[in-house]
Amino acid sequence: MRRILIAGNWKMNLIDNIAPVIESADKNNIDVLVIPPFVYLERIAIMTSGSKVFVGAQNMYFQEKGPFTGETSPLFLKELKINHVLLGHSERRHIFKETDEEISLKMQKCLSLGMTPILCVGETEAERMSNRHKVIVENQLKIALGGIENNLKNIIIAYEPVWAIGTGNTATPNDAEEMHLFIREQISSIFGRKISSEMVILYGGSVNDENIKDLLRKDNIDGALIGGASLKGEKFAAVIEIAGKTNI
Ligand code: 13P
Repeated sequence: MRRILIAGNWKMNLIDNIAPVIESADKNNIDVLVIPPFVYLERIAIMTSGSKVFVGAQNMYFQEKGPFTGETSPLFLKELKINHVLLGHSERRHIFKETDEEISLKMQKCLSLGMTPILCVGETEAERMSNRHKVIVENQLKIALGGIENNLKNIIIAYEPVWAIGTGNTATPNDAEEMHLFIREQISSIFGRKISSEMVILYGGSVNDENIKDLLRKDNIDGALIGGASLKGEKFAAVIEIAGKTNI
C-alpha cells in the first residue's frame, strides 16, 4: 500500500505559522513533509521534533565536499537528519539551468547515502501545446533514473507540469492521472512492475484545499507537492485534513 504524502515546498519563503500544520499532521494518518530554505532547516527541524512532520531539503550537490561555493553537501543534510531531498525542481531546471545529467548524479549520490530523493519532472506549456509532454517526461525519467540500482524503494516522483506551477491553472484530475499512469508505466519499464506499483507519485502545480480531494481520488495520485498553499499554516493544515479523510 502506498501512503499518502502531502509535501510543502516553501521555495524562498517562510510559512506564516507552523503550529496548525504540526497539529494536523499529528492527528491524520498520512505523511507530511515541509521543505524550508536551507538556512532554516535546523530551526524547523527543532520546532517539529517529536511531531509527525518530516523536514526535507530543496536541493543538494552531488559532491560531498570541496571547492563548490554556494552548494550544500548531502552530508550536511544527513547531519541534520534530513532524509528527503527535492531534486530537479522545475525552478532549478529552468532558472538555474540544471541539466538532466546533473540531476542524475544527484539522484545517485542521494540514494547511495540512504536518503530519499523526490525527483521532479514535468513539461512546459509549449511542450504540452506541441503534444510532446510524454516524450519530455519520459526522457527526464530515463536520464535521472539511469544507472540507479540501489535503494529504489526510497525514490519518490513528483509530476509538476511547469504551466501549472504558481499559475492557479491546476491540471484537471483526469489529465494529471493520465500522466501519473504514464509515469508509473515508465518506472515499470525501468525497474519492473513491483517497484513501480509501490512508488509514491505526487502531483504538484497550484494544489490547494479546494482541489486536493478530487486529485487524490485518482488511482495513481498518491499525494501532492504544494508551493503557495503550503505557506499559510491554516490552509496547509486544511489540505492535510482533507487528505487524511480521503485516506480512510
Ligand atoms: P504552487 O503550488 O505554488 O503552484 O507550486 C508548486 C511547486 O512548484 C511545488 O514544488
